Amino acid sequence: MLRLRVQLTLVLIAALVWQSEAWWSRRSTRRTSTSVCPNPPTGFGAMQTGCGWPYEEGETCEFVCRDGYRRTSGDTSRNCNGGTWTGETLVCEYTGCGRLPYSPGAWRTGCYWPYTDGENCTFYCGEGYIEVSGNYTVTCQDGTWSGTPLTCEYTGCEVPEEPSSGVRRKDCWWPFANGENCTYFCVRGHSEVSGDSTVTCRDGAWSGTPLTCEYTGCERPPLTSGSWSPVCWWPYENGKECTYTCRDGHSPVSGNSTITCVDGAWSGIPLECIRTAPGCNPPPVGRRYGTWGPRRCRSPYEEGETCTLSCLRGYQQESGDTSTTCTGGQWTGEPLVCTRRGRQTTDG
Ligand SMILES: *[C@@H]1O[C@H](CO)[C@@H](O)[C@H](O)[C@H]1NC(C)=O
Ligand SMILES: *[C@@H]1O[C@H](CO)[C@@H](O)[C@H](O)[C@H]1NC(C)=O
Ligand SMILES: *[C@@H]1O[C@H](CO)[C@@H](O)[C@H](O)[C@H]1NC(C)=O
Ligand SMILES: *[C@@H]1O[C@H](CO)[C@@H](O)[C@H](O)[C@H]1NC(C)=O
Repeated sequence: MLRLRVQLTLVLIAALVWQSEAWWSRRSTRRTSTSVCPNPPTGFGAMQTGCGWPYEEGETCEFVCRDGYRRTSGDTSRNCNGGTWTGETLVCEYTGCGRLPYSPGAWRTGCYWPYTDGENCTFYCGEGYIEVSGNYTVTCQDGTWSGTPLTCEYTGCEVPEEPSSGVRRKDCWWPFANGENCTYFCVRGHSEVSGDSTVTCRDGAWSGTPLTCEYTGCERPPLTSGSWSPVCWWPYENGKECTYTCRDGHSPVSGNSTITCVDGAWSGIPLECIRTAPGCNPPPVGRRYGTWGPRRCRSPYEEGETCTLSCLRGYQQESGDTSTTCTGGQWTGEPLVCTRRGRQTTDG
């Protein structure tokens, strides 16, 4: 069943390829053998209808002026005659109104290029802007605008300065209109030092100064080897607890299984554990980047267990062993050392 379907698909693809090739060659033969006239020139504001490439002997093209344009000279109908077009190129002139100047903050509705006679453009000032001069509506009359477009002026505030470290800004976006508030807050682990949590745009200037915050949490707790804490990471804000457990085969010797960050200092020292069960600590991973291991073995590392190590892609073995066995509480062999391929070692 599947085989039949695959065969049908192949037949279909072959048919499509054959068809498109046939179409392409038909098209190109027609192109080379029967296009008698070149593309007729189409003047600015003019449009060609009723004909197309390739142009055959006797073929007629019609030309018209687009909306907003008027014929000044040339022909609206031309014939392909012995390799050239009869008549003259249609020339059209723009009779509509000119493009309107861009004015920041001024929005326009109801009119689109080309602007034809009687067309109205209506303006308004966007948020944060007020009217300065000009007309709210201008009308296109005999190729000229009846008035001057509205101009607007930004009366809002500048973009507030970037919040300092540990601070975030929210709830405000450009344009910052009068009366708009920006609020600031301290990120986790940080406390307010000075400034205002809300600043308001008044008469084009910000009232108040943005908040500044400082880190009041704890330093990173000291690293441990025989114990670990699953969820103990930055920021260590006040009240944060880090709970330690001994690794497999290890027993506690000193320290506290839970330490808490209080006023920027840890309440105790992290739990230290040493190996008490037979077996090994995690195998040495080597001294250089590019060493990836242990593979195919994990804690608890029992007596007799073998771990294989390998170099990362792009690295090659320089020295050491790719296999090590837990023997009498120690790993056999030398730690694997990998170096980047095609590079010399700089230190030993
Ligand atoms: C333009 O505005 C005038 C006056 O309000 C109105 O009479 C005319 O119909 C408008 N033109 C168009 C094209 O809407
Ligand atoms: C355009 O504005 C000017 C001055 O602001 C005013 O004198 C004129 O009458 C306005 N024109 C129209 C068509 O509203
Ligand atoms: C800005 O904050 C003030 C005081 O809290 C409030 O009265 C005002 O409505 C706020 N403005 C906006 C645009 O939310
Ligand atoms: C932390 O451990 C030490 C000794 O291991 C102990 O004296 C101290 O009370 C412990 N602190 C807390 C907060 O448990």
